[in-house]
Amino acid sequence: MLVNIDTLTIRTIKYEDLPDLEWDGEYTHFRRLYASAYQNQQKGDAILWVAELPEAGIIGQAFVQLVGSRPDLADGFMRAYIYSVRVRTPYQNLGIGTRIMRTAEESLIELGFSYATLNVNKDNLDARRLYERLGYLVTGEEAGNWSYIDHRGRQKFVHEPAWRMQKKLR
Ligand SMILES: CC(C)(COP(=O)(O)OP(=O)(O)OC[C@H]1O[C@@H](n2cnc3c(N)ncnc32)[C@H](O)[C@@H]1OP(=O)(O)O)[C@@H](O)C(=O)NCCC(=O)NCCS
Repeated sequence: MLVNIDTLTIRTIKYEDLPDLEWDGEYTHFRRLYASAYQNQQKGDAILWVAELPEAGIIGQAFVQLVGSRPDLADGFMRAYIYSVRVRTPYQNLGIGTRIMRTAEESLIELGFSYATLNVNKDNLDARRLYERLGYLVTGEEAGNWSYIDHRGRQKFVHEPAWRMQKKLR
């Protein structure tokens, strides 16, 4: 596929973008999670970045939690947590993931944060390589047991053992 990366826009999400984050059904089960992340952005507790191409719409994302229930990940002033990083398959390996991450990091620096944290699944070697190239170091482990309520109101349990990674932003 021919993709003109010069036309890529990286911006924060708007309410009307929420359905587009479901990627034609692939992420419909996260509908409530996305709505709640959007509310966090409205409160000033999160920044949700999306990458958009004129011909394809939203093709990538990275969410940043500035403050939350886990101060070791996001404490509102020193440390922020980057999660839900993804680029649609046909648009991977073009540098888009790198650009979204850099945009997220630059905004954190402007806001005065010193560290970005993230969790990467232990079996996700591609993503870990990307984060290491961007300067993230493994600082610990996460059992990765969490749950969410899907779009039909059912609780879903997830087990994703992960490496905790951290980058000093400044
Ligand atoms: C991980 C993920 C977000 C990376 O996004 P991406 O847009 O493919 O990332 P990039 O293109 O910036 O970097 C990926 C590779 O492309 C290469 N690349 C970067 N810019 C490039 C360019 N202009 N041209 C060609 N290749 C390029 C990078 O060197 C990198 O190579 P590597 O495979 O040796 O690491 C994406 O693969 C993804 O969505 N995966 C599924 C979801 C996921 O695992 N998310 C992470 C959860 S922690």
